[in-house]
Amino acid sequence: MRKKITVIGAGHVGASCAVRIADKELADVVLVDIVEGVPQGKGLDILEACPVEGSDVSVVGTNSYEETKDSDIVIMTAGFPRKPGMSRDDLLWKNYEIVKSCVEQAAKYSPNAFLILVTNPLDAMCHVALKVSKFPKNRVIGMAGILDTARFRTFLAQALDVSVESIVAFVLGGHGDSMVPLVRYTSVAGIPVADLLDQETIDKIVERTRFGGGEIVKYLKTGSAYYAPSSAAVEMAESILKDKKKVLPCAAYLQGEYGIQDLFVGVPVKLGANGIEKIYELKLSDEEKAALQKSASAVKELVDVMRPKLDEL
Ligand code: LAC
Repeated sequence: MRKKITVIGAGHVGASCAVRIADKELADVVLVDIVEGVPQGKGLDILEACPVEGSDVSVVGTNSYEETKDSDIVIMTAGFPRKPGMSRDDLLWKNYEIVKSCVEQAAKYSPNAFLILVTNPLDAMCHVALKVSKFPKNRVIGMAGILDTARFRTFLAQALDVSVESIVAFVLGGHGDSMVPLVRYTSVAGIPVADLLDQETIDKIVERTRFGGGEIVKYLKTGSAYYAPSSAAVEMAESILKDKKKVLPCAAYLQGEYGIQDLFVGVPVKLGANGIEKIYELKLSDEEKAALQKSASAVKELVDVMRPKLDEL
């Protein structure tokens, strides 16, 4: 039987996810949004590309969660995007309400689904989704690390004039400006990047990675990135649906790992048929530990603001 993925939000990120899922013939897609006509129109348009792409999947757009019933995966993209000058955190309350109501409905119709969160501020919104859905922690996963790592890999490949595929990198921490690109774990086909680039160049690339989302927002003016974010979300869905057990940096609910309690933070995880099948704890240097703790405190600040509301759920 074909797999089914619901994509919530028919904006740029959601529609790009739907296109990538259809092109890969990964699953049937239900694109759901509150705006009348937009999910239907985009869904039909994506479906009509399938004969050309050679892909036999169904793609439907809808305003009703009934059609999302029994999805294997739900990718949550709905929410307000950033505008120039805004941080991801500025979106907290607006997107809290959106995530709460969308996840409530999606979880009702697909109680066994895996939830992949994309809405910002990412780590805090994962927390909302975990509380609202009451799903086990292996089934609520945030998309951020793959995107941040992809940016890091892009810039490193450009600087080294090598294939992006040869760059293996990790970015840990929250999806915010204090994220932690781990240079020590970054290599070009196994060759430590520090052996190939001088510190100043590496520092510049790390800085550009941290502000990679903002760089796109500055260009677009009316919203944030969507091509790379959708690639990242769909890579997670594919690893789960095909039980590939890829090791990927994702936002996971931590209960003591890395000394972090009761927070979603970006860490390396194994994604397979059971969602998060393992959280890998890397041996960090004191400096790396401090950077991760700083990034986690930025997530904690947001979650603490929401605590009274979260406790009512
Ligand atoms: C970014 C947004 C999606 O990093 O958070 O581009």
